[in-house]
Amino acid sequence: MSEETSDYQPNQTDEYVNHLAEVKDTNPTTASEDIYNDQGVLLLSKGSVITKRVAGHLIHHQLKKELDQSIVVANTLTVYDVLNQTLELVESEPDLRLLHSHADFEVTLRQLLFNKPIPSQILQRLTVMSRVMPLVYQRSLFCSWLVPLLCKLMGHHYNTYFSAFSAGLAHDIGLMHIPVEAATATQDLTKQQWRALKTHPIVARMILESRNIYSDDMLNAVADHHERCDRSGYPAYKASQQVNQLAQILSMSDQLFKLYFDPERGQKSAHEWISYLEINLGTFGSASEFMLALLKKPDIADRLSVQEKTPVELETVAKENSQIARLFDCIRDLDEIAGHYPRVKIARGVSETISQLNWVKDSAGLGSDHLSEWLTWSKDNPEDSSEAELSEIHNLLQGLRWRFRRLWRLAVELYWSDKLEAKHQAQIKKQFDAMSALLPNLCFDLDGSKQAAASSDGAKTDEAKAGSNEPPAEQAPTTEG
Ligand SMILES: [Fe+2]
Ligand SMILES: [Fe+2]
Repeated sequence: MSEETSDYQPNQTDEYVNHLAEVKDTNPTTASEDIYNDQGVLLLSKGSVITKRVAGHLIHHQLKKELDQSIVVANTLTVYDVLNQTLELVESEPDLRLLHSHADFEVTLRQLLFNKPIPSQILQRLTVMSRVMPLVYQRSLFCSWLVPLLCKLMGHHYNTYFSAFSAGLAHDIGLMHIPVEAATATQDLTKQQWRALKTHPIVARMILESRNIYSDDMLNAVADHHERCDRSGYPAYKASQQVNQLAQILSMSDQLFKLYFDPERGQKSAHEWISYLEINLGTFGSASEFMLALLKKPDIADRLSVQEKTPVELETVAKENSQIARLFDCIRDLDEIAGHYPRVKIARGVSETISQLNWVKDSAGLGSDHLSEWLTWSKDNPEDSSEAELSEIHNLLQGLRWRFRRLWRLAVELYWSDKLEAKHQAQIKKQFDAMSALLPNLCFDLDGSKQAAASSDGAKTDEAKAGSNEPPAEQAPTTEG
């Protein structure tokens, strides 16, 4: 399997049949016609329900026809359900409600949903997703709301809203088609699991493409929803000019959902997006700048909910800053190594991500001696340093830690690359160990050695955690950052 393609074949049954069996009690799936394999052997006769046993029989077969065309999922979501659930999500949160009315979005959303149909096979998949991965489904609703809303505010043409809406809604349907141990991997992701997880955007694109109603912009946005403009994304480590604006808005919205709703990381406050966006200015292209400007508009900024928080201790911030300084030390060698492989895409991703990190250090002074001197000075002059200032620095440092995590995901991929010389591989391994002490639970199993020890109740990847409603820890691994 290459880095940018997947093994997905529309006619081959995969993990999705197991998911269909999982929802048998609420949404039984029935064969609407006889289902044959490509040799003409009858696998399932018309009217049969996909149970666990049937799924076991159907999985990994090459079918005569796409499975989708021969099944009916009962109690499928309707367009009204999608609309009502989206409105419920938005109405329940004052900050989202504020953006919703600022963009005068209610009418637009209704028009969007009723002007062009959502293909029934997509609604079918979303129905299954809403059952087996409820948080991924919620995030999809959120994106189907925020992406076209931002397009509207950015002044895009009305015709693009449908692409924006559908990209938001369907971007993660590929997650149901990859092996479940990759989508719900334990925290020590192996090379194979990571490779499988990486394909989910491409799988989603392939499924949507075959419906023949979506624009290229929409399909590219889905395929690129994990790409980042600093080349730290996946699966293709694209550079900013290769990622279309819809993809940038979508990938940002996907992250903003997590910052808002993630059971542990989420703060339920759009105000918290600000420091994240500031630290990630180069990550989502112009989308982050637009969002920042929007949140800082007086009629929005003054009305965003403000959370009561316990003040941040000066010592905590000082500790965080020295930790970031040590992380910057750690990446110097990595930058050197990456520099040896200018033709390897992952290596270029590593270099570019490091230069972005260094830019943040130079421009904002995070992890710098200057900041630690200031913190020491503030300790002796408490009356001159403000609580707000400290908490702002704390947020920025926290945000930076996530960027380091993303860098380490790339470093692990570089380690796994067959292009790497053995001595460089050994150096990265050493760096990885040093880094793990500073960023606990980096989510990879470098040599597959931890896999045996990993228990099934271990922490899960970000996407999968979202699916299982499992609360992640602050240092929880993430495939997205
Ligand atoms: Fe995704
Ligand atoms: Fe997503």
